[in-house]
Amino acid sequence: MPRLIIEGGHPLRGETEALGAKNAVLPIMAAAILCSGDVLLERVPDISDVRVMAGILTELGVEVEFLGGGRLRLNADRLANTRAPYELVRRMNASFDVAGPLLARFGECEVALPGGCNLGQRRVNLHLDAFRALGAEVHREHGMVKAQATRLRGTSIYFPKVSVGATKNATMAASLAEGETVLENAACEPEIVDLARFLQACGARVEGAGTPRIRVEGVRELRGASHAVTSDRIVTGTILCMTALSGGEVTVRNSPPEHLEAVLGELRKAGQEVRVQGNDVTLSARRPVRSLEVTTAPFPGFPTDLHPPLVALLVLGDGVSMLHETIFDGRFMYVGELVRLGANIRVSDHTAVINGVRFLAGAPVEASDIRAGGALIAAALAAEGETSIGGLEFIDRGYENVHTRLASLGARIRRVE
Ligand code: EPZ
Repeated sequence: MPRLIIEGGHPLRGETEALGAKNAVLPIMAAAILCSGDVLLERVPDISDVRVMAGILTELGVEVEFLGGGRLRLNADRLANTRAPYELVRRMNASFDVAGPLLARFGECEVALPGGCNLGQRRVNLHLDAFRALGAEVHREHGMVKAQATRLRGTSIYFPKVSVGATKNATMAASLAEGETVLENAACEPEIVDLARFLQACGARVEGAGTPRIRVEGVRELRGASHAVTSDRIVTGTILCMTALSGGEVTVRNSPPEHLEAVLGELRKAGQEVRVQGNDVTLSARRPVRSLEVTTAPFPGFPTDLHPPLVALLVLGDGVSMLHETIFDGRFMYVGELVRLGANIRVSDHTAVINGVRFLAGAPVEASDIRAGGALIAAALAAEGETSIGGLEFIDRGYENVHTRLASLGARIRRVE
């Protein structure tokens, strides 16, 4: 199995370009199902989740063509079937994003229930409630969700819990429904805004994306359009934490700071110098790292996906820090691996209590999910000696060519197959 080998103690210096957001491009690829004619996407990151989604769409009969340079062409005019099988869906929870588009455009879908992942159970009850509210017959059997509707009808949907996935699926389904749909308590993440921008470019009538109230006026048809995917705020935030841990200074270009307010605020509170110039964000590492108390929350709160990289930084804090996770139960598997590098962390009741230590020492560790991988790489940059990181199948899902990017910033890092 491939591993990353990192020799710590070398500060990251220089600048790097933000890449397209994984959590925006995946629903937008699924939304291509809604459209007739070609969809052309730019700034598509070269990550394995994009290839998994491309595989699912191909299985459905969507034409998918990687044009190089982050450009991707999709065409759903000859969609062959509306069934997304378990062996594909099980690899990535975002596969469920195809359900709403299939139901809205073809009146039916059969999609495997996402199982669990290392973050815990990944439920889709809010997605199914939204489909039923839009008039679909939905039932579950043998691990598959089957839904059908002659034509979806607009309605009002209140989400009892904020859900990025359910907000995406409901918005996509409502875009071809008859009449108006209002989504209340919708997720406000920038990736929802980017999906709405894409849908609008294709002729959808979507207002209010980015706020808790989204209004969709259904139309008869959507026509494929071009779209440049928004920047990945989670990758940018991870690089900033890596920079702080490494003791360096890095500028991430083309990364809208308004997507990262909570994160930049906490990094400043941790004593790091953060400067913003237009869409370029620069972090200059400072010592001591001040300890923090942080709680994760839906956007604009502190994002759960930056919980592990921030904890990696707080490991070197000047006191006791607390990180309270409110979104995913299983998000703490990375803690044991940080402890192997010398961290002093206790987890109880969805809260990590971090007692700052003076230094970390390299060791072999394993990533258990995408963002755990980001945290372990960050810690390895600060650890004395060599750290070897396994679980690259997770890291490759969300971080494009992380070793070449970090090496270009001065890290001593190599990938051994
Ligand atoms: C998206 O997952 C992201 N994935 C996650 O990023 C991110 O952590 C999460 O949003 C929160 O921001 C993609 O966009 C592909 P949710 P999603 O629906 O849509 C519960 C990464 O590393 N819930 O907002 O699955 C759910 O169990 C990944 O890039 C229900 O109970 O997140 C969770 O506790 C990890 N019923 C909470 O809501 C439902 O029907 C938030 O889930 C749906 C969700």
